Amino acid sequence: MGRKKITIIGAGNVGATAAHWAAERELGDIVLVDIIEGMPQGKALDLLEASPLGDFDTRVIGTNSYEETKDSDVVIITSGLARKPGMSREDLLQKNKEIVQSVVEQVVKYSPNCIIIMVSNPLDTMTYLALKVSKFPKNRVVGMAGILDAGRFRTFVALELNVSVEDTQAMLLGGHGDDMVPLPRYSTVSGIPVTQLLSSEKIAQIVERTRKAGGEIVGLLKTGSAFYSPSLGAVTMAEAILKDKKRIIPCCAYLDGEYGLKDICFGVPVKLGAGGIEQIIELELDPEEKAAVKKSAEAVERSIKELGLR
Ligand code: NAI
Repeated sequence: MGRKKITIIGAGNVGATAAHWAAERELGDIVLVDIIEGMPQGKALDLLEASPLGDFDTRVIGTNSYEETKDSDVVIITSGLARKPGMSREDLLQKNKEIVQSVVEQVVKYSPNCIIIMVSNPLDTMTYLALKVSKFPKNRVVGMAGILDAGRFRTFVALELNVSVEDTQAMLLGGHGDDMVPLPRYSTVSGIPVTQLLSSEKIAQIVERTRKAGGEIVGLLKTGSAFYSPSLGAVTMAEAILKDKKRIIPCCAYLDGEYGLKDICFGVPVKLGAGGIEQIIELELDPEEKAAVKKSAEAVERSIKELGLR
């Protein structure tokens, strides 16, 4: 078996940091693509020059074209624009739609058998767009959000209980936005449901902080959004695919009737392996959780329609 190949589109904060995590883990050779001349080449060369110091045997190249991405196994898409002064949310949506569309066309042309991991926002809508543009089967386009949101929930639980993050687990459903649906009933510390360890008030606070966690970081950074945890989320998903780990991770997946939803990309627990999304797991939900899922799905559907995708 040859070496695995990972392409990362967009060499900004999330893309470059993803390259860093993936290189250190020796997940495969890495191609970093951006439209800015010299930037992906410079970052890739710098990372490559770190490899003898970090003892990782990973080839890393940067480029402004797609020839070098040929026959990638996994492609992580992080290209996009941040909102600039005077730009409306709709303008930004439209611009990112154009970017993702053109990027996916190139990706598919050179790597027709790859699995796409979408990161660009609005995540659920861009995952749906990538699926439609690529014409890939639904198991080969997956969005990164739930793993990040669950990681944030786990962090806050660990901080609250003063226990190791390693022993925390969390599950959540829904779109990557304020309407996401953290599921404390399905979240544990070493198998003990957090509902037995924390008061309902504390859990409600943690749920709220998780929902707003992206905004909390933006509020602190002011000129950008989170990138360490999002990039590691995407790389963890890539690792599950490249090593056929069959991990159970909340991801944005195309639904065709699961959870009562159809023709939408939405956050649900999936089995991630060499086949991409190998299974969608349907959790039993109580009426309150079902209502929250419905609300979150409506928000994603609005965004899909806003972009004229259906
Ligand atoms: P950034 O601005 O640091 O990087 C974006 C990069 O994309 C820039 O280097 C830009 O030159 C490049 N780019 C723009 N158009 C391109 C094109 N046509 N082809 C190739 N590259 C292109 O932004 P950052 O922080 O890395 O975020 C990237 C995206 O990921 C944003 O859409 C952001 O909202 C999203 N994001 C999603 C998260 C999630 O949970 N799904 C979490 C964090 C960020």
